[in-house]
Amino acid sequence: MTKTKIILDCDPGHDDALAMMLAVASPKIELAAVTTSAGNQTPEKTLNNAMRMLTLLNRQDIPVAGGNRTPLVKPLETAGNVHGKSGLDGAELPDPDFKPQDMTAIELIAKTISESKEPITLVVTGPMTNAALFLRVYPELGQKLERIVYMGGAMGLGNWTPSVEFNIYVDPEAAKIVMNAGIPLTMAPLNVTHKAQITKEEIAELDQIDNPVAHAFYGLLNFFELYHEAPKWGFFGAPLHDPCTIAWLIDPDMFESEYMNVDVETKGELTTGETVCDYYELTGKPKNTDVLLNIDRDKFIQLIKDSLATFNK
Ligand code: BDR
Ligand code: CA
Repeated sequence: MTKTKIILDCDPGHDDALAMMLAVASPKIELAAVTTSAGNQTPEKTLNNAMRMLTLLNRQDIPVAGGNRTPLVKPLETAGNVHGKSGLDGAELPDPDFKPQDMTAIELIAKTISESKEPITLVVTGPMTNAALFLRVYPELGQKLERIVYMGGAMGLGNWTPSVEFNIYVDPEAAKIVMNAGIPLTMAPLNVTHKAQITKEEIAELDQIDNPVAHAFYGLLNFFELYHEAPKWGFFGAPLHDPCTIAWLIDPDMFESEYMNVDVETKGELTTGETVCDYYELTGKPKNTDVLLNIDRDKFIQLIKDSLATFNK
């Protein structure tokens, strides 16, 4: 089986952590490195969370490096209201028992690509600051990327302002650099991630899987679910945004998508950070993005359960 070799650039974050778990569990994915961005929580906390998660998953061999301290232009805005004070509230996680690499995120991304014989896919599940900095500092290495798969943006929806999704809201200037870099892109927008909901009952079922990783995600997802209970969302569970990226790499047939041009507004009065998806080909701009729009939710939940079960002794 040919494996897809990836770097995960994330801001854990409950759903980032779940994306990491799916990547580690899958025989179809080789997780070559993890880099962290400031986003859901401060850069210190997201780095520590990525390392706590890799310690729980017993994958301390995967190199980790911390990245940007702030977005490119805006001050940092975090999402403690969604992910808690630590960024990963809801479960007792082990302290990291290994050290991060003595280099920055963009250096680790560059090193991983330079040293790899196989093509690398960059998966971004937080703000795109590290990805943009990497592309600006190492443009030739950027062009070697097979693809960038990201969770962010939306077509006509918002979860942070009326038309803006959180990851793009935090660093719209970075998103603009990434979206216009000429690298093949796959986007998991809110349109698909809001269909990737897990119910309270399904979260309870995860606790039946008898290993420490499954028990930890039972606690984490119960915490994450609370924020999404507010009636304004109209959800029946919690939307699992970031794992859609890894699920697409594992089983693209689980999704329906449309190819189109996607860019981002950086100067709007009400819309800074809104992704502009040219569904009807009105601009004539090249189609740069495969936009995921639908998911087979049952298959997705089954993938999560099967992945957690791989950690049974
Ligand atoms: C995105 O924002 C973060 O809070 C989540 O981790 C996800 O990446 C959803 O808008
Ligand atoms: Ca995230």
